[in-house]
Amino acid sequence: RMSLLRSASQHLRRRRDYSSASASPERKVAILGAAGGIGQPLALLMKLNPLVSSLSLYDIAATPGVAADVSHINTRALVKGFVGDDQLGEALEGADLVIIPAGVPRKPGMTRDDLFKINAGIVKGLCTAIARHCPNALVNMISNPVNSTVPIAAEVFKKAGTYDEKKLFGVTTLDVVRAKTFYAGKANVPVTGVNVPVVGGHAGITILPLFSQATPASNALSHEDLLALTKRTQDGGTEVVEAKAGKGSATLSMAYAGAVFGDACLKGLNGVPDIVECSFVQSTVTELPFFASKVRLGKSGVEEVMGLGELSAYIERFTLELMQFLFGRFFVASKPGCAAG
Ligand code: NAD
Ligand code: LMR
Repeated sequence: RMSLLRSASQHLRRRRDYSSASASPERKVAILGAAGGIGQPLALLMKLNPLVSSLSLYDIAATPGVAADVSHINTRALVKGFVGDDQLGEALEGADLVIIPAGVPRKPGMTRDDLFKINAGIVKGLCTAIARHCPNALVNMISNPVNSTVPIAAEVFKKAGTYDEKKLFGVTTLDVVRAKTFYAGKANVPVTGVNVPVVGGHAGITILPLFSQATPASNALSHEDLLALTKRTQDGGTEVVEAKAGKGSATLSMAYAGAVFGDACLKGLNGVPDIVECSFVQSTVTELPFFASKVRLGKSGVEEVMGLGELSAYIERFTLELMQFLFGRFFVASKPGCAAG
């Protein structure tokens, strides 16, 4: 009898899950750069997301194949592939959320800044099309250097007269994903349920994990442990670039992180309360015009840019001051600019 009851309640739960997913509003998500190392697994993960009703996969090549493949999965989203400039408008038309992993990745020995020239041009072109075809969409910028591609996107949207600071996000979720994993390992706590805010930006010392605010708190970590955790989180991207030895940078963990952040944006749009993620957004939290911190997501994007909270570890206060000193000066010297690519 117990097992009968259990299976009946599981059945009901499944039905409830299904009906709540099918009752959720129509949401179109477009991925630009969908045939790439991040784009393909991200397309898969967004196809699995029950909040997505239409999934538009755009790239300069190879999207028809990726779209055909992903479209056979028996989940809600209707998938369409678009390829080349001529089809970009149609790919974007009516999108609620545009995720951009288009652009070249790093090779060993390069900094994210070395990608600036080529990726700035790619992002500029894509954002010009967004301003024209889906000016109200939320934009999740993954292309590096995020610290620069986000301000570039803002300038393109300003020029087009469509800029809304509540709708533009630099995706820094991978830094949070890494900080959670590394912290759980070092503090020896189960990783599920671990939370660590990561603030600043997405390159080198601008990546500032706030381990003093990590939950569950651990008093087993020494100053040296905190230094090592901070450095490993800051160098997480390079760790992957070196391990891949010339075959690109993080793709699978980034696709996961991009899917987590995209899901949070959709939940916010759908009016789910208390959706908070870290993201690189226009900000007044510090003197830097764009800055990553916890952000509350809502029906029109950013609902609240949250403050930093208490920085109780010395390394956190020191890094924040250094970041502001270095990049605050840079901003003053060359507007519009970026906080360290
Ligand atoms: P990739 O080379 O495997 O894929 C990039 C894709 O972009 C390719 O399919 C390419 O055809 C496409 N593309 C190029 N120009 C385009 C255009 N004008 N329009 C549409 N698509 C275009 O690279 P990847 O490993 O997927 O990385 C993509 C970007 O994401 C890189 O800039 C990388 O540095 C960045 N990245 C960011 C994070 C982060 O945390 N924000 C993490 C990992 C990688
Ligand atoms: C990352 O953090 O993995 C990405 O920004 C890719 C890179 O170049 O490190």
